[in-house]
Amino acid sequence: MGRESSVGDVVWRCAALAVFFFLGFIAGWFGRPASEPAATEYQDRLESLLQDIHTHNIRHYLREFTRLPHLAGTEQNLRLAERIRDEWAGFGLEGVELVSYDVLLSYPNQNRPNYISILQHGEEIFNTSLSEPVPEGYENVSDIVPPYNAFSPQGQPEGELVYVNYGRTEDFLLLEREGINCSGKIAIARYGKIFRGNKVKNAMLWGAVGIVLYSDPADYCASGVEVYPQGWNLPGGGAQRGNVLNLNGAGDPLTPGYPAKEYTYRFDPEKGVGLPKIPVHPIGYNDAVHLLKNMGGPAPPSGWTGALNVSYRIGPGFTQDTRNQTVRMNVFSTNRVTRIYNVIGRIRGAQEPDRYVILGGHRDAWVFGAIDPISGAATVHETARSAGALLKTGWRPRRTMVFASWDAEEFGLLGSTEWAEENAKILQERAVAYINADSAIEGMYTLRVDCTPSLHTLVYDITKKISSPEEGEEGVSLYDSWHKRDNWTDERDAPRISKLGSGSDFEAYFIRLGIAAGRARYTKNKKTEKYSNYPLYHSVYETFELVGVSYDPSFRRLQAVARVRAGLLFRLADSRLLPLDCQEYAAALRKYAASIRALAHTHPNITQHNVTFDPLFSAVENFTNAARDFHQRLQDLDTSNELVLRMVNDQLMYLERAFVDPLGLPGRPFYRHVIFAPSSHNKYAGESFPGVYDALFGIERSDDPHAAWSEVRRQISIATYTVQAAAMTLTPP
Ligand SMILES: *[C@@H]1O[C@H](CO)[C@@H](O)[C@H](O)[C@H]1NC(C)=O
Ligand SMILES: *[C@@H]1O[C@H](CO)[C@@H](O)[C@H](O)[C@H]1NC(C)=O
Ligand SMILES: *[C@@H]1O[C@H](CO)[C@@H](O)[C@H](O)[C@H]1NC(C)=O
Ligand SMILES: *[C@@H]1O[C@H](CO)[C@@H](O)[C@H](O)[C@H]1NC(C)=O
Ligand SMILES: *[C@@H]1O[C@H](CO)[C@@H](O)[C@H](O)[C@H]1NC(C)=O
Ligand SMILES: *[C@@H]1O[C@H](CO)[C@@H](O)[C@H](O)[C@H]1NC(C)=O
Ligand SMILES: *[C@@H]1O[C@H](CO)[C@@H](O)[C@H](O)[C@H]1NC(C)=O
Ligand SMILES: *[C@@H]1O[C@H](CO)[C@@H](O)[C@H](O)[C@H]1NC(C)=O
Ligand SMILES: *[C@@H]1O[C@H](CO)[C@@H](O)[C@H](O)[C@H]1NC(C)=O
Ligand SMILES: [Zn+2]
Repeated sequence: MGRESSVGDVVWRCAALAVFFFLGFIAGWFGRPASEPAATEYQDRLESLLQDIHTHNIRHYLREFTRLPHLAGTEQNLRLAERIRDEWAGFGLEGVELVSYDVLLSYPNQNRPNYISILQHGEEIFNTSLSEPVPEGYENVSDIVPPYNAFSPQGQPEGELVYVNYGRTEDFLLLEREGINCSGKIAIARYGKIFRGNKVKNAMLWGAVGIVLYSDPADYCASGVEVYPQGWNLPGGGAQRGNVLNLNGAGDPLTPGYPAKEYTYRFDPEKGVGLPKIPVHPIGYNDAVHLLKNMGGPAPPSGWTGALNVSYRIGPGFTQDTRNQTVRMNVFSTNRVTRIYNVIGRIRGAQEPDRYVILGGHRDAWVFGAIDPISGAATVHETARSAGALLKTGWRPRRTMVFASWDAEEFGLLGSTEWAEENAKILQERAVAYINADSAIEGMYTLRVDCTPSLHTLVYDITKKISSPEEGEEGVSLYDSWHKRDNWTDERDAPRISKLGSGSDFEAYFIRLGIAAGRARYTKNKKTEKYSNYPLYHSVYETFELVGVSYDPSFRRLQAVARVRAGLLFRLADSRLLPLDCQEYAAALRKYAASIRALAHTHPNITQHNVTFDPLFSAVENFTNAARDFHQRLQDLDTSNELVLRMVNDQLMYLERAFVDPLGLPGRPFYRHVIFAPSSHNKYAGESFPGVYDALFGIERSDDPHAAWSEVRRQISIATYTVQAAAMTLTPP
């Protein structure tokens, strides 16, 4: 479709004709086809889009969207979806619609609250609290869901406690070495370091009959900061909600691989993917003290003590004086198939309407969700408004922009994954990139970007055009401000960019479908601030005031993040030549290959098992050469030839797709990216060459070293094939 004509265009064309012979060059300028903007015009449009992202609008949307809880599957979250749909349509977005799915969700039982008790002679002498103290100003709000771990099975396991530190694989291995048997016990783990679902999975693997998750002040309070509402630390009565699934990218547990439509076949709930088999419940540190203070058994190893005034003994069970006491979990939550709603809006591309760039973030929140996700949803809303405003001036992007407000992210990335499943065939043919927009802020220090390597160069270019939001840095670019605070010294003299892990809605797009993806947010100083996530994560205290008073009173940090996300969307959708950099991918592959080989060589017996990385290095070298030659050819490409342009753009778009193995990783069929996957031990973290990494993990403990090393060789060959095959896609046709 062409650019829509308007009265203004007609006037210009007449004027140009009238002065044609005298001012031919001006006529030539205005007569340029809309598909070929001059470089300066293009810059101006990007800059005008970024300039038009305003702090007061972001503030307003954050205020409006955080007045009430918006838990997935509730009436209030549907009302918010309808409001966003109507406002996007008002902004000028096209084809705005609600897209619903019926997925498995989990809620506490309103008549039987979840809690943990200490029993003595069958009597409950202590019970953990049933809710968090409600923040001031929100006393009259109903429908605040109490802290719970979604998808916990029901149950009342009773027994002795074992303290398992963070519940990481290495924590349980240490207990095993110390001869502490978790079988039949109730584990108590502190939140932090890894995804909570991995803690639950580990507790199950080591035989625990239940697991209590608590927030330790060592991990959820920053030093020198007061608890909410005076500051942004977690109060003793606060607790972290969150799902405890191990979906490995499956989406709705009952319809893995397929969209949860009305016609879709559903597994029996007992056979749902990733559902934990033992009760799980979260508590705050005021309650945790009561469970931890009388624990007996050995003193904790180094690194296992938190910041509470207790001994952190491992157990199992209590000390001599309280030996008659046991702990019981009381969990009565229920799983229910429930309707959820994504909002999808579009701006149809002028020249390549069949190429999509997606900006998506979730809308559902545990309670008010001022940080997670509304700080992000407000940036999407402001980007939709400003793109709509630009559309009204007669501009239209080259490619189609897709805006998404996902539902049920908190229940396992369900809304985004179901939409990816429903549209999988279209997306794998047509999607250029996916930009994620979850929480826009988790700290007050600097920018944090995680993205696919081919987006590195674009991220640097865009952040050079955005100003630093920090006070006293007028005239300094976001790039320089970020570079100064988080220099990637060991790699290069540039700001640090990390790999994508998971834990948000880009997962199905990047790791299952192989669509180039990235995310950006404001973050803490990792060198000095050692707490996990941000202290009030998933608590009732994620209020508008938390952001508007503590994190970003001027709203300039959220504005900067909104501009990074919008800049990525805009440049990917509107550049004639896709701004994807294959040489950055080559550099990343060289780094990952070297590091997986180094890891393999830490295993002393590797030489006996004929393991060689030489073919992988050969493939990486071939990829490096192919990427170099590809970008060389781009230098003297006739980009005015639309067919030539489309051919190279397709090579760029499909490069990420080339890393997908349709068979998936071992035991994780929906994790199909051979270069990147969420770590098997921590869903939040990204692992490179995950197939090889997992095959090497714990290999010295293997019962059958021959078979284990064979699997390493098999995974190296898959990695080699994939990199070589990807290199071949970059060669000239
Ligand atoms: C704990 O809750 C149970 C069930 O509501 C109640 O019977 C018991 O008295 C409570 N114990 C304490 C110490 O509050
Ligand atoms: C809560 O409701 C009461 C009674 O309806 C009212 O007096 C009070 O002002 C309300 N509080 C807030 C914070 O809205
Ligand atoms: C742990 O305890 C369970 C149950 O008491 C027992 O079956 C199992 O063999 C024990 N494991 C070890 C390693 O001792
Ligand atoms: C820590 O607990 C012990 C024993 O319960 C108590 O005597 C001491 O005063 C506590 N220390 C602090 C700093 O609260
Ligand atoms: C534990 O219970 C037994 C029997 O119920 C009782 O004889 C004993 O005194 C109790 N010990 C303590 C420390 O309460
Ligand atoms: C980043 O680190 C490199 C290498 O140590 C150094 O040369 C460079 O000046 C640093 N850049 C900034 C902005 O701090
Ligand atoms: C390693 O390769 C050699 C030569 O091909 C072969 O003799 C040997 O059996 C192989 N060892 C293993 C563990 O596969
Ligand atoms: C890399 O390219 C060379 C030259 O074409 C070829 O001989 C070699 O087999 C390739 N490496 C792999 C792993 O395919
Ligand atoms: C290494 O191999 C030797 C001999 O084959 C064996 O005795 C030893 O246990 C192996 N070590 C590890 C860590 O697998
Ligand atoms: Zn979120």
